[in-house]
Amino acid sequence: MSSLTANDRDVRSLYLDLMRRNLTRYGMHERMPAQWPLRRRLFFKTMNRMLVRTHAHRLADATPDGLPQPIVRRKRDLGLDWPAEAETMIGMQRLTSLQRCVETVLADDIPGDLVECGVWRGGACILMRAVLAAYGDEKRCVWVADSFQGLPRPDAAKYKADKWMRGDLFSGILGVPETEVRANFERYGLLDDQVRFLPGWFKDTLPDAPIDRVAVLRLDGDLYESNIQPLDALYPRLSPGGFCIIDDYHVLEPCRQAVTDYRAKHGISAEIVDIDGIGVLWRK
Ligand SMILES: C[S@@+](CC[C@H](N)C(=O)[O-])C[C@H]1O[C@@H](n2cnc3c(N)ncnc32)[C@H](O)[C@@H]1O
Repeated sequence: MSSLTANDRDVRSLYLDLMRRNLTRYGMHERMPAQWPLRRRLFFKTMNRMLVRTHAHRLADATPDGLPQPIVRRKRDLGLDWPAEAETMIGMQRLTSLQRCVETVLADDIPGDLVECGVWRGGACILMRAVLAAYGDEKRCVWVADSFQGLPRPDAAKYKADKWMRGDLFSGILGVPETEVRANFERYGLLDDQVRFLPGWFKDTLPDAPIDRVAVLRLDGDLYESNIQPLDALYPRLSPGGFCIIDDYHVLEPCRQAVTDYRAKHGISAEIVDIDGIGVLWRK
């Protein structure tokens, strides 16, 4: 890294910036795919209207230079809508934070792989693979863990916090087949041996996953069970100095509850740092 010129560094950050912009379709106009059934298109429209209404105060924020931003960009800044085409729904701020986490573990030589549990179209994992490529890391893997069929039907008998969650409702939207996620990696030229897939329910795939150590653990499974199961299985493998990232901590109560329970049970007191008013992280 020390032999890089200033120009190399600029090119690298320009590449990663372009990746983030493209993965979120930042400021771009998306069309709902014409082949989607009308029901799905209407569902997206309704969900997005609801999200905008719920988070109107955040969308009204001004930019640091005091100018209001166009609403489309603000939505993608905070990951507040469900994109029709973009490969991730987590928005620019959480993507940028994820990039910084990966860059930090590389710079500090924190051992371990990069894992996301709950990947949807794969965009956040694609960015993690792009960071490894940009820094010439050929040792670490990106683990892509998902059912590839959406959320499980909530098991309220076992996980009370999931009582009001209707995972089955979203299976058509949140269930993205593995072939499609692989094709998304392929489109960016980033599908190779450093990308490993763990298809199936977390409770079945994570406890015996062949992952030795983890440097970045990103959880984005929405339900209590989809946060507590990855924490139980993978947090013990997170290296000291590694990052634990929780998407939706501030907006989904079951998700926050799982994190609170896990941290209390294991006496974790590392400070929880807010990312964008939605996601959080802490460093082990
Ligand atoms: C909100 S989406 C993830 C968004 C994604 N991180 C992004 O960058 O856009 C939630 C994902 O979690 C997956 N999921 C939720 N619970 C799961 C579980 N228990 N086992 C496996 N996959 C799960 C769903 O299939 C879905 O792809």
